[in-house]
Amino acid sequence: MSKILVATDKPFAPIAVKGIREVVEAAGDELVLLEKYTGKAELLEAVKDVDAIIIRSDKIDNDVFDAAKALKIVVRAGAGYDNVDLAAATVHNVCVMNTPGQNSNAVAELAFGMLVYAVRNFYNGTSGKELKGRKLGILAFGNVGRNVARIAKGFGMEVYAYDAYCPKAAIEEAGVKAVDSTADLFKLCDIVSLHIPATSETKKSINYNLMSTMPKGAILLNTARKEVVDEEGLLKLMSERPDFKYITDIMPDNDAELKKQFADRYFSTPKKMGAQTAEANINAGIAAAKQIEGFLKKGIEKFKVNK
Ligand code: 3PG
Repeated sequence: MSKILVATDKPFAPIAVKGIREVVEAAGDELVLLEKYTGKAELLEAVKDVDAIIIRSDKIDNDVFDAAKALKIVVRAGAGYDNVDLAAATVHNVCVMNTPGQNSNAVAELAFGMLVYAVRNFYNGTSGKELKGRKLGILAFGNVGRNVARIAKGFGMEVYAYDAYCPKAAIEEAGVKAVDSTADLFKLCDIVSLHIPATSETKKSINYNLMSTMPKGAILLNTARKEVVDEEGLLKLMSERPDFKYITDIMPDNDAELKKQFADRYFSTPKKMGAQTAEANINAGIAAAKQIEGFLKKGIEKFKVNK
């Protein structure tokens, strides 16, 4: 019997945990829960004898792999796996997977919730703007980007996208106008929505120069990762451009300063809420449990992200 730990600082909806438990127990295994833990020590203690771990944005570093002597697999129930030290996983002979696409609709829906809030001036009673007819730029056309495009069409927006790893033809096939570069997207679009992962290539790539080319009245929307935006550049731009709004689902390190200076055009959720729906939790959590059982029982390595 294998022991499978769900270690989530930000817990799944109870109905998703129930679904995960059903998958694990049907396979004859045991589920252990560690939710809202207070520090790394608690995590290190909990992983000691487990064969598998399901996580969300929880940080899994070399110390965790060192402590988890029986660990064979970690599944990040979600898309981005920048919170897992992949090299350390490989050294410890642990397989790491994600569950691509499972929470993407939830993130895309939140993007529009935040956008309407932004164009309606944070519901402060003043006259705002509409999304219809405005140019939306989607940076990276993965699962979330595609859902954003689908919803944007419903709003009657003009939808553009750029993705360094997705051919223009695939973007156009989805009924979206493909542009040639990130720079072109920023220059052209009233609103840019970020859907890039945090990698060595993308960190701080949304910099002052890029942001400053956006048209008057621009909105930058970040439901991806805080690390992709250069915070110093953002602060400088916000100071120079009273027309510019930054709306994010991932609180930047300089949140307090941005809030203090630009309360009417800066907004951050207190906790990342994009994937925080029962549906997304069920989809991603159960997919993670099934992937673990497939790996432990049959050696299936689909969605493995480390070498
Ligand atoms: C993801 O990468 O899947 C999203 O950012 C959601 O992250 P979360 O599971 O921490 O909410």
